[in-house]
Amino acid sequence: MIVKDQISSKKVIELEDKYGAHNYHPLPVVLSRGEGVYVWDVEGKKYYDFLSAYSAVNQGHCHPKIINALKEQAEVLTLTSRAFYNDKLGPYEKFVTEYFNFDKVLPMNTGAEAVETAIKIARKWGYEKKGIPANEAKIIVCQNNFHGRTVTIISASNDPVATENFGPFTPGIVSIKYNDLEALRKALEDVNVAAFLVEPIQGEAGVYVPDENYIKNAFTLCKEKNVLFIADEVQTGIARTGKLLAVNYAEIKPDVLILGKAISGGVFPVSAVLADNHIMDVIKPGNHGSTFGGNPLACVVAIAALEVVKEEKLSEKAFKLGEIFRKEMENLIKKTDLIKLVRGKGLLNAIVINDIEDSSTAWDICVALKENGLLAKPTHGNIIRFAPPLIITEEQLDDCISIISRTILNFKP
Ligand SMILES: Cc1ncc(COP(=O)(O)O)c(C=O)c1O
Repeated sequence: MIVKDQISSKKVIELEDKYGAHNYHPLPVVLSRGEGVYVWDVEGKKYYDFLSAYSAVNQGHCHPKIINALKEQAEVLTLTSRAFYNDKLGPYEKFVTEYFNFDKVLPMNTGAEAVETAIKIARKWGYEKKGIPANEAKIIVCQNNFHGRTVTIISASNDPVATENFGPFTPGIVSIKYNDLEALRKALEDVNVAAFLVEPIQGEAGVYVPDENYIKNAFTLCKEKNVLFIADEVQTGIARTGKLLAVNYAEIKPDVLILGKAISGGVFPVSAVLADNHIMDVIKPGNHGSTFGGNPLACVVAIAALEVVKEEKLSEKAFKLGEIFRKEMENLIKKTDLIKLVRGKGLLNAIVINDIEDSSTAWDICVALKENGLLAKPTHGNIIRFAPPLIITEEQLDDCISIISRTILNFKP
C-alpha cells in the first residue's frame, strides 16, 4: 500500500543524516506503520518485526487494548506532575505491585532512569539500613552488561564505544565477570557493598544465558552478606523469556526489580522500580522523582499492557515458541557453516555468526533478511538477536523460520 504524498525512504534517511545526531546506525528501512507482528515501510513493503524495539513491543504493534487505553486517557488528563495526586497513579501502583508481588513501586519513564533509581535506592539503603560509612557504598556489576546510557550507568560499562571520552565516571562501582560465582563471592567480601546489579540474561551483550544455577546462587551469596540483589529485567522481563520474569526460572524474588520497555507494550515510555517497604522506605519526599513519572497516561497504558500479557498467555507462548525456534535453528546449523550456535530463552534468542567478531557478516545477513521481509539487528560482535513480538502465532513463526533459513542458506559472504 503506497500512501499518497508519503515521504520516500531515501528522503527520510537524508533528513536524519543531516539533522539528527549520529548516535545510531539503523538498518536502511523506514517504517511508517505497525500492527501485531508486522511493520510496513513507507513504500508499503511488509516485514516481520524480529526485534520488537529491543523487546518493548512484546504485546505486538499497536495492540488495540493498549491503544484504546491511551486514547481514552489522552482526552481526559495526560500530566499533572507529582505536585498533585492524579486519579490513575494509586490504582496503578496497587495493580503493578500486586502483579509482581512487591510492596511498593517507584514509577519512572525510561529503562536507564529506572536503573539510576535502583542504584540510588541501593546506596541510600546501604547507608541508612546497612550502616555503610558515608560515600563508601559500592555496587557490584557484571562485565559486558547493558543497563543504559547515563553517566553513572556507563560508569558500570566496559564497552569502549559507550565509555570513551565520556569520563570522569561515577565511583563506587565494582565490575566482575558475568556468570562467575567465585568472582561474586570475592567481591562480596567488601563490607561496603550495597547491591549486586545484574541482568538475568545479558541481552545487549548478545543474549548470554548464564549457567542454570547462577542467578539462584548469586542471590543466596548476596543474602548471606546482606547485599541487595537488583534484577535489571528491562529487556528480559514481561514474558519475553518464557516466564513473566527471567528470575522466575531461578525461583527467587529480587530485592529490587527494574522494569521498562514492555511494561507499556512499547506504546509509551514507562519504567518502574519495585521493592518491599523495608527498602523503598528510605526514599522520602524530594529525594527522587521525575516530571513525567507516574503520569496518568503511563498508568493506564501499563495496566492495559500488563493485562494483555496475562489475557493472551504471552509467557506460555514465548516458552513454547522459543523451544520450536531454537530447535529449528539447531537444524539450520547442521546445514551451514555460517552459524556457530543459537542460544536464548523463550523468544529472546540469538545466533552467533561463524566469522571474526568485527566482520560485517551479521550486518549483511540482516540486510538480506530485510530484503526477504524480516527485520533483525546485530548486537555486539557477530551476533544477531531474534526477538519477535510474543503475540506471534506458530504459523507466523514457521514462516519466519523459513525466511531465516532461506536467507542464511543462500547468503554469499
Ligand atoms: C537490561 C537493560 N537495562 C536498561 C536498558 C535501558 O533502557 P532505556 O533504553 O529505556 O533507557 C536496556 C535497554 O536496552 C536494557 O536492555
